[in-house]
Amino acid sequence: MERNVVLSVRDLRTYFHLPHGVLKAVDGVSFDVHQGELLGLVGESGCGKSITARSILNMVRSPGKAYGEVLYFENGRATNLLALGSDSREIHRIRGDAITMVFQEPMNAFSMVHTVGHQIMEAILLHRQVSKKEAREMSIDLLDHVGISNPQQRVDEYPFQLSGGMRQRAMIAMAIATNPKVLICDEPTTALDVSVQAQILRLLKSLQEKHDMAVIFITHDLGVIAQIAERVIVMYLGNIVEEAPVHDIFHNPKHPYTRRLMAAVPDVHIEGENGARTRLQTIDGFVPEPINLPDQCVFYNRCTEHWQHCTTANPELLQINETHFARCYKYDETVPQKGEA
Ligand SMILES: Nc1ncnc2c1ncn2[C@@H]1O[C@H](COP(=O)(O)OP(=O)(O)O)[C@@H](O)[C@H]1O
Ligand SMILES: [Mg+2]
Repeated sequence: MERNVVLSVRDLRTYFHLPHGVLKAVDGVSFDVHQGELLGLVGESGCGKSITARSILNMVRSPGKAYGEVLYFENGRATNLLALGSDSREIHRIRGDAITMVFQEPMNAFSMVHTVGHQIMEAILLHRQVSKKEAREMSIDLLDHVGISNPQQRVDEYPFQLSGGMRQRAMIAMAIATNPKVLICDEPTTALDVSVQAQILRLLKSLQEKHDMAVIFITHDLGVIAQIAERVIVMYLGNIVEEAPVHDIFHNPKHPYTRRLMAAVPDVHIEGENGARTRLQTIDGFVPEPINLPDQCVFYNRCTEHWQHCTTANPELLQINETHFARCYKYDETVPQKGEA
């Protein structure tokens, strides 16, 4: 079944204009998000995942600037969010209402001086024409909906009175209060221990299905991606290097970076292309700062499979089959391959 596109990111480039150069945090990222889909965005720390999320909501501040288009589709009409003023009425109508966000650490997203209920009510009152009493009832229902017991009592507690897992549930309650079309989750379970993490992932999955929301789920952890995503985008240095359905990412990864990430996942063994078991390894080297990079494959310095041609320019994202894309010259039949003249 073809699902409607709700959000389309087109040639997004988010640059920080710094005294010592232009830091290209996101450099030419394009992807569509479909109604009700769970899209995973994965890559090591520093790859540009959070800046992609902030750019979608037009929340990048000077010296950063987002170029390109972020189209939000509503009643058959497309609005380019990047063309709206970052404090305009139109962006506030969409941000926090149709598109909302959950962060890694709810302690930072919640104010410590107001009760959880007060903050969820504020989010509702900002976007809906309801009375305070109704907003309070809605907040209690939402807390109940995300699996918080005794919501009538919890609604009047402060964020610091809740456990990490409960606080993240409350954050999620606030993020879904307006019934968003798109929910962006930026490392929402990274600060939680493994059993709580699994509960939160199950909660997000069930909410996504119940509300037919699109979820963009950002994480550095492929183990989490395996549990939750339908389709996966792998980012490296501000570029999409691979994109495929989750099954193909795990069973038939194409980009050398994805394969290395995969091999570094604890307790996950994958079948190599020749059927051999790939041993666990950690991915060595680190993500460089994307400033003044040479015009070559972005993964060149850390790639163990590169050859001469990889220094000519950064490859395009190549289509391998209907749903699988990789940014690697190995899949480009028009260029000389390794060992060829
Ligand atoms: N406010 C900022 N000013 C300058 N550089 C930034 C800023 N925020 C992020 N960056 C840089 O942008 C790149 C991408 O960062 P980020 O999107 O946070 O990565 P991720 O979320 O994948 O860990 C990194 O090189 C980071 O240092
Ligand atoms: Mg991040």
